[in-house]
Formats: sequence, C-alpha cells, structure tokens
Amino acid sequence: MAQRDIRRISEIETASFSDPWTAAALEHDLSAQAGWHFVSVDDSDGVLAYLIGRTYPHEWHLLDLAVDAQMRGRGLAAELLDRFLDAADAVSVEVILEVRPRNTPAFALYSTRKFTPIGVRPRYYHDNHEDALVMQYLPGSRASHLSGPLLAIETSCDDSSAAVLMPSGEVLSNVVHSQDEIHQRYGGVVPEVASRAHVERLSAVVSEALRQAGVTIDDLSAVAATVGPGLIGALLIGVQTAKTIAWSRRLPFLPVNHVHGHLAAVWLGDPEAPFPMVTLVASGGHTALIRVDDKKTFTLLGQTLDDAAGEAFDKGARLLGLGYPGGRELDQLAEKGDSSAFSFPVGLQKSTKSDFSFSGVKTALYYVLRDMSEDERRARAADVAASYREAIVTALVSKTLRAAREAGARTVAIAGGVAANSLLRTRLQAEGSAAGFHVVVPPFAYCTDNAAMIGAAALSAPVVPYPEYLNIDASASLALGQWVPPTYSVYTPDNYWKI
Ligand code: KG4
Ligand code: ZN
Repeated sequence: MAQRDIRRISEIETASFSDPWTAAALEHDLSAQAGWHFVSVDDSDGVLAYLIGRTYPHEWHLLDLAVDAQMRGRGLAAELLDRFLDAADAVSVEVILEVRPRNTPAFALYSTRKFTPIGVRPRYYHDNHEDALVMQYLPGSRASHLSGPLLAIETSCDDSSAAVLMPSGEVLSNVVHSQDEIHQRYGGVVPEVASRAHVERLSAVVSEALRQAGVTIDDLSAVAATVGPGLIGALLIGVQTAKTIAWSRRLPFLPVNHVHGHLAAVWLGDPEAPFPMVTLVASGGHTALIRVDDKKTFTLLGQTLDDAAGEAFDKGARLLGLGYPGGRELDQLAEKGDSSAFSFPVGLQKSTKSDFSFSGVKTALYYVLRDMSEDERRARAADVAASYREAIVTALVSKTLRAAREAGARTVAIAGGVAANSLLRTRLQAEGSAAGFHVVVPPFAYCTDNAAMIGAAALSAPVVPYPEYLNIDASASLALGQWVPPTYSVYTPDNYWKI
C-alpha cells in the first residue's frame, strides 16, 4: 500500500463499512510502526482489496480487510488473509481481530481460516454501539495448502540431499550425496570442506532429484530447506539455494528444523503410527528423547550430557581401528562377538531422568584396549565391539521405553543414523512390542540425513510467502520447536534494506 492507493482504498472503505476509516486516518497509518499494509491491484483498475494489520512482537492484529464491491466472491480477501497468516505462522505469533457478529461473510471467512471466538468487546462500534466479537488465530492452525510437488533440500552437515514430495507426503525422489569419502582422511567432518563440497554438488543433486521425480522447477509449488541446527556454512548453501529457486518462480519457502526432519522420518516410514509418540533421535550430532504430540508439537524429554550416541560408536570404532565414520563397521564386527565377554558401564542407568551419557563407556573401552597386547586386541576385537555396543544400546532402549511409559505414549520410534544399528533395531522392536507400544523403525534411507524427511517435516511447517522469506537466515543453534531463527523479521520492501 502506498500514498497513491489511498484515494481508491478510501472509496472501498466508505462503500464497505458504516464507520469507515477516513482518508486522513488511512494515510496516517502508512507510517505506523509495526504496520502491515497489503493491496491487491489490477493493472487497469488499481486497488481491488486491501488488508491493514499490526505486527507487534507477541501478537498480531488484523485491523481492516475489505474488497471492492464488484470484486467480491473471487477469493481476494482470502488471499490477503492467508498471506498475513502465513507470515504470522512463520514467527509463531497469534492473530487477533474484531468482527461484527452480524457480518456473516467475514465471520465465515475467518472461521475457515481457523479463527475462533474468544470474547466480546461490549458496545465497541461507534455508529450503533454494537458489541464486537473478538476472534483469535493460533499460529499453524491451518492445514498446509500446497497445490503441487515440493522440493526439499538438506545440507546441515556432510550430506548434500534433495527430494521431491507430493503434498500428500508421497516421496517421488530422494537423492543423497554423502561426503564420507571426503572427510575420511581427516577423521571427522571439516566444516569448511563440507561447505565447499555442498557448493560443488548441490546443483547436480537438485537436478537429479527433479529428474528422478519426473518434474521441472516450473511444476513446483514450494521449496523447503533445513535452516538449522547444523554447521552454519553448510546450512547457508542449502538455504540460499532453496530461497533462490523459490524466488525465481515466486514460490513460497518452507523453513525446516533439522531435528523436526528426523522426527518426520517416523511418519514418513509409517504414516499410520499413532500419536503421542516418544522418538529417540540418535545420530552423529544428536541424542535426544522427544515426545511428539502431533506433527508439529514437540517436547524435549532428555538428551546426552556429553557425546552423541553416533559419536560414541565412531570413537569406539576409531579405538578399534575400524575406519571412519565407523559406527556401521563396529556394528558389523559386534555381530560376530560375545556381548557378555566384557562388562562396560551403562551411562546414567540408575538415573530416573531421560538423559544419556556415553563418556564413561568410551573411557572404559580405552582402558580395556590399553591393557591388552596387540595379539589379544586382534583376537578379542569382536567380543569387545559386541560388549561395547551392548552397553550403548541398553542405555538407549531402556531410557526410551521408560520415557515412553512416563509420557503415556502409544508409539515408540527411533530416527537418526544410529537407528541403522542392528542390535538397536531388533531390541527396540522386541522390547517395545512386548511393552505394548506400536514400534516404528523407519527405513534406513530416512534415518541418515536426507531431504525426504525434511520435505515430510515441511508439510507441517509454516509457509512463508514470496518474497517475505528473503530475510530468513540459517541458524547453527535452532532450538527444538523453532521453525525459523528468532532474528527473522518479516520482509517488506520498506524494511528489507534497513535490517
Ligand atoms: O544421521 P546421520 O547420518 O548424521 C548425523 O546427523 O550425524 O548419522 C551418522 C551417525 C554416525 O555417527 C554413524 O557412525 C552412525 O550414525 N551409524 C551407526 C550405524 N550406521 C551409522 N551407528 C551404529 N551402528 C550403525 N549400524
Ligand atoms: Zn541428522
């Protein structure tokens, strides 16, 4: 909305309401702090509809929404309203409005957008002293309304991945380029090297995902990407690529939290799994128990106090001389050993909390190997690996089941790269079922870092419309429950260059 629109807006306003804003009030509002002004325009006729709002930090207000009398019934009000609500979803703030109880079309529109009445303001309107109905919209209440395929991108660590999903959740393609070979020589992920490898591979990975799905960029209805947590340089490559593709086709952007992606692997693997569920996310970077009430409500129950489970496997593999990253090799070796040969400590076994610790078992392994001769180490490697794995898996499974019982969960699930561990899979399946839980162990391809799970999470993520996402940045430390970094502020042509 600009100065030149005021005359038309004032005409529509006067024709629409019995207590219209004056032209002077409208003009004054253009300079309001936290003001949100959008118009629908037509090339010849100018302004057709407009929305005026306020974007306060903890609550947004919808002040005015009107459509030219000739243009009603064409969805213009809904379009402007969705744009406002999409942006509110992205920052997780509620929206409040007042409406006349007898304004049935307005009440109906707000109801379809999940506004609910929360109160009455007596004698609110000046013209006839009518009461106003106060309605409230809670962020994320509308169903996602994508019309076609979604492209998802994941680059938070050392895997460059792109996937294409249908709005129903069906995965059309899921291409992953692993950088394991690149980081092998350093014995760990080198952030700068990872970022450069993402730059080199990501375009080809995206092209391949589109090709396998049988779609082109022009068929897409939205683009999603992991915005955090992870390695900041690596995240930036994916976020920038996704925003650029979205911007080039004026598509919306869906920001995804990487941990939400791991949680979504569970309903990607088993769409029928009942909520609430308790999911163990165990990878090279995370070990956390999370209560999942629905596809976007998460509570952290506990996490590791030191190493991640994947790290414990990888460090164990390194001490045993099994290469990089090593978790899988240690698992394979353990299959041939006797798990009762050595007694390794199970971290925080007596604690009733849902936290984990793997530093004790790792140190114990170091001492066991240190006190062995070279021959002994070789001869007993499988027994050592089996006993070490036993201690880690016992901690993971017992804590998960205890947390699930306490949370009253119906489903227990695992996700993250460590979910590939054969003992963890079989034991959670057996003990979980015996305890009466529905158990989900997603296919391996959805457990290690991949873009399909990011797409699945994106289907319940806020939809940030073009071009408001230009200000969304990557965040190395995005907390559970956050979709966008807290520094995000809604893009408007006026504020973009000032931020
Ligand atoms: O989820 P992911 O691919 O990447 C991260 O976000 O970290 O997980 C990789 C981790 C590595 O630590 C790897 O060694 C571990 O998962 N991992 C395994 C197995 N396969 C992969 N750990 C134990 N047993 C396995 N079979
Ligand atoms: Zn991960």
